[in-house]
Formats: sequence, structure tokens, C-alpha cells
Amino acid sequence: MQNHIQILEKDFLNCDDIITLLSLNKEQANDLFKKSEQIKQKYVGNKVYYRGLVEMSNICKKDCYYCGIRRSNKNVSRYELGDKQIIDAVQYCYNNNFGSIVLQGGERTDKVFVDRVANLLREIKKLSNGELGVTLSLGEQTLETYKMWKEAGAHRYLMRIEESNRELYQKLHPDNDLHSFDERLAALKRIQDAGYQTGTGVMIGLPFQTVEHLADDLIFLREFNIDMVGMGPYIEHEDTPLFQYKDQLWPLEGRLFMSFKMYAILRIMMKDINIAATTALQTIDPIGRERVIRFAANVIMPNVTPGVVRKNYLLYENKPCVDEGADDCLDCLEKRLKLVNAEVGFNEWGDSKHFIERTKG
Ligand code: 5AD
Ligand code: FES
Repeated sequence: MQNHIQILEKDFLNCDDIITLLSLNKEQANDLFKKSEQIKQKYVGNKVYYRGLVEMSNICKKDCYYCGIRRSNKNVSRYELGDKQIIDAVQYCYNNNFGSIVLQGGERTDKVFVDRVANLLREIKKLSNGELGVTLSLGEQTLETYKMWKEAGAHRYLMRIEESNRELYQKLHPDNDLHSFDERLAALKRIQDAGYQTGTGVMIGLPFQTVEHLADDLIFLREFNIDMVGMGPYIEHEDTPLFQYKDQLWPLEGRLFMSFKMYAILRIMMKDINIAATTALQTIDPIGRERVIRFAANVIMPNVTPGVVRKNYLLYENKPCVDEGADDCLDCLEKRLKLVNAEVGFNEWGDSKHFIERTKG
């Protein structure tokens, strides 16, 4: 068997290599992080791009067993931001020289919603003279809807596969058409087919999940030829069915460390994609996002959702910054990013280089 130093010299990582790397201890993992930092600098550089995150609504028709805003959770007060609130949050991003925004929300497919999103997209493009890049994260939709939203101005779409192993996916979701693994996969393909820069990702440290599953998840991302990834540790939420397995989980620190290794291996495997440093990292470690930006990630999504409703968008517990206005967080973010050798790409879209390469004529 090869040791991790030899594996890190390889051009192509196979499943066994990935499992070996995911199993490294703290000291050995430093070699992994060093390698991934070199690759990050070489292929995507030290720029980090802001995507202002607007959580439009926590009304969701789905019932995923891990998610705090699942439909069956009666302890959540449901909200929907008005157009003005959304536009104000977007304007805030524009005024602060963010290159892009993300519209995220619970899953809905009704016509009123679909049309509203299209209108919002047109307004966002107008208010920013077409300068703001727009990413959507609104779940599974028809090809027609994806195309319509693209036409209206969105050019990136994020939809996590959550877990790429069918059997495990099924354990984490209700057994019905709304939560079909095949349909989720097909929807991700539709996003790619509609011409978006396509992003997906997984949760790390889920109940029943093994290191082998995580290795397969990374291979899934490579085989799907994905342009962007957002992934993060699973964090149990009391009001969800999966909470009953809380004693079987890796400790939070272990989930964080495993996430760091996932980020580093992904960067080595997919050198030119965009990787977002996600909020769930910050829930475990206040500087968790900055730490992955040092060696792997190149996108961060500051939350610009109006403070009054933010506490209602708790996908998991202890989500950070829910009591603060957008300003409080931005002030020190740039300084913290400097400390990890990252420079903010203000007013730049920061598109996925991988997408540009894969769609080159
Ligand atoms: N822990 C971590 N991430 C979660 N998400 C949902 N519930 C949890 C949880 N308990 C993630 C899912 C979803 C994204 C918006 O939030 O991956 O795609
Ligand atoms: Fe599926 Fe929230 S209900 S992720």
C-alpha cells in the first residue's frame, strides 16, 4: 500500500487513495493541506469571491429527515420575504461591491413562485445594470423553469445531492416521489443541460455515513463534472427525525476535521472548480470558513438576509450570526480573510474556471 506522501504525488486519485487520505491523522493531514494549498494557489489563486446570500423564504414542500425547516416541523414560524426586502438586501450587496448574490429558499414549484423568481431576477439585473451575478438555490424544478430563470438572468445554480449513495440517500429522506434519489439526480442533470454553472455538494458526518461513502461522494462530484461545490458538516437539529441518532455521530470536532480533509482532497481532484466555504463550518468553528479558504475554498456567501427573519431559517442548530444585521459580519470578514492570505474579488463574478474550460467552443 502506498503512503499518503506517494498518493499526494499522483495525477489521478482512485477510491482507495481517497479513503487513505480521508483516514489521515492530524499530523499527516498537514501534508494534505499543504498540497491542496499549492494547487489552490496555482489554479485559482488567492482571490475569494463574495456571494451575498438572501434566504427568501423558509416555506418548503419537502420533508428531509435532517433539515430544521422541513415541512413537518411545526416549531418553525414560516416567512416569505417581500420583493422590497429582497431587493434591499440585493442593493446592499451591490453597494458593498459584492460580485454576486444567491437567492436561496425552501422548495416550491407553483406558478406564482416560479414567475415571481423570474421577475425578481429581471429586477436584480436592472438595478445592477447587469453587473451582479446571480446564483439560484431553489431546488428541483422542471427544465422549462430552469431555462426561464436562466433567461431572466441567473447563471449559476446550486443543488446539493446531499449524499450520492442511493441507499444512504433513501435513509435520510421519506420514501415518496417528492424525495426520489433518481429525480434529484435527473434535476441536477437538467440544471447542467440548461447551461448553468452547476453546483452541488454533500453533508459530511451524517448518521450511517462511512468514509467509503464520502470517498464515493468525491468521485461522484468528479464524474458529474461539476463546476462548483458547497459541502459542509452535518449538524443535528432537535426537531428532526435524524436527531434520534445523535449519539452515533462523530463528535463535532471530528466532523469538522473530516470536512477539512474533504475540501482538500476535492481541491486536489478538481483543481479549477469553485468551492464555497459553507456556513455549517462556522457553526462548529467561528473561523472554520476562513480555515478552508486558506487551502481549498475560493467562495464565501455572507448572509445578507434581513436580521428579523434570519432566526427562522435554521436548517440546523447554533447557526451563527442569526442575531446580527448584515453589517456586523462584513466589517471583520475582510480582515479575517486577509489573515488566511485571501484577497476579496470585489465587483467580480469569479466564475468557475472549470465551467469556462468545459464549455469552451
Ligand atoms: N446540517 C447541515 N446541513 C444541513 N442542510 C440541511 N439540514 C442540514 C443539517 N442538519 C443543508 C442541506 C441543504 C442546505 C441548504 O442545507 O445540504 O442542501
Ligand atoms: Fe430538504 Fe430542507 S426540507 S433540505
